[in-house]
Amino acid sequence: MAADTAQIFDHPALQRPKVSDREPLHPGYLRVGEDVPPASALDITTMDIVDPEVWRQGKYWDRLERLRNEDPVHFTPDSFVGPYWSVTRYEDIMAIDTDHKRFSSSWEHGGITLGAPLEDFEMPMFIAMDEPRHSEQRITVQPAVAPNMLKEYEPLIRSRTQGLLDSLPVGEPFDWVDKVSVELTTMMLATLFDYPFERRRDLTRWSDVSTNMNNPDICPGGEEQWKQEMMTCLTTFMGIFQERGAMPEKNDLISLLAHGEKTRNMTPMELLGNVILLIVGGNDTTRNSMTGSVYALNKFPAEYEKLKADHSLIPNMVSETIRWQTPLAFMRRTALEDVEMHGKTIKKGDQVAMWYVSGNRDERFWDHPNDFIIDRANARRHISFGFGIHRCVGNRLAELQLQILWQEIMERFSHIEVLAEPSLTSGAFVKGYTWMPVICHPK
Ligand code: HEM
Repeated sequence: MAADTAQIFDHPALQRPKVSDREPLHPGYLRVGEDVPPASALDITTMDIVDPEVWRQGKYWDRLERLRNEDPVHFTPDSFVGPYWSVTRYEDIMAIDTDHKRFSSSWEHGGITLGAPLEDFEMPMFIAMDEPRHSEQRITVQPAVAPNMLKEYEPLIRSRTQGLLDSLPVGEPFDWVDKVSVELTTMMLATLFDYPFERRRDLTRWSDVSTNMNNPDICPGGEEQWKQEMMTCLTTFMGIFQERGAMPEKNDLISLLAHGEKTRNMTPMELLGNVILLIVGGNDTTRNSMTGSVYALNKFPAEYEKLKADHSLIPNMVSETIRWQTPLAFMRRTALEDVEMHGKTIKKGDQVAMWYVSGNRDERFWDHPNDFIIDRANARRHISFGFGIHRCVGNRLAELQLQILWQEIMERFSHIEVLAEPSLTSGAFVKGYTWMPVICHPK
């Protein structure tokens, strides 16, 4: 190790960010730092998996495993997001995700996250639309991430990644989340939107705020602050949208939306919804895969050695990272009619969580599901990108960014060492990291 231990522990990068205390969101939910009871101690008939503190502590695995084994289509009668179903096995998740005629994503039915959307702040976005509107809008933005654009972006992504890695303080501790994962994904997003580059951290902020209304460390003013910041995002993008609409069409996401036949007359709230979709879609997910890859290789050192010996494993390692990490833990659907599954009836109008994070660890489908195996033969069959008509539009771009990152890491560093257990995001939707101190060792 390059720095001595005393120096390391005094270093600012090693000060774990504080998590402020907060009122639990629902009766019976845990306070910050309170012990999470093991799943075996819980009554399965009322088992709930959306308490944010359970996620912040990373202690949801045994609940998901118990549900997969004992109650694969599980009803939680009471939670802070209301009553909801949990589907936890790989094959069952695939069945629902591909059945968009009976399971809606539409915001009019509640959208793709659990709970009721704010009534006075509806943000329609195409991930939360059914056919035909969904496809009309999806097709409009697809050119921004089509194979020809990825080819065009590749040298830019590579040179930015090289520049960033070359600027890292080799041999000194730093926070990988902020310095690398957030920075790289934010730069990419600024490029996709052709957003003023020097103001790119606006995008990070809006991404963090949009999924954290209930998190006082990010949004201490709660709903009011959340709405205000979303309105700032809207005003900013409304200006860009109008400007791009008045100029000849380009391939950035806002220009495509401003010229698209089905999107140029969007309402302001629909523009905001789609902007937030693209910001969160392109930001949190790839960001947490970037951190997850370093973390996983440290937890499974034999896999890191395998990678060092054979860099051609990088593409498969990237798929395995996205499986192992599962950056979005679930997507919600709403039943449009009564549906029977495993002897249970999901009633018309019920909300259903498809727990991708559980399907990606289903022992019926995967060998050694909890292990990170970089040459796993079927790694690409993970369901982290969803499946069916809403399958992630940016999946190839995310893979490309991660592949380039690892190719360039292997050129520069003999090892990236994780110095402490990372801090995790709280909340069951975005599954990721807020802090992870590392040291990069030179080659
Ligand atoms: C590792 C990285 C990523 C993961 C794990 C991920 C995951 C997902 C998931 C789970 C869905 C929803 C699937 C469903 O409802 O069935 C989705 C949709 C989407 N993602 Fe990603 N995503 C990633 C990267 C990206 C990137 C880089 C972009 C930006 C360009 C992006 C943009 C979108 C959009 C626009 C949708 C909506 C697609 C639709 O409704 O048709 N994602 N993504």
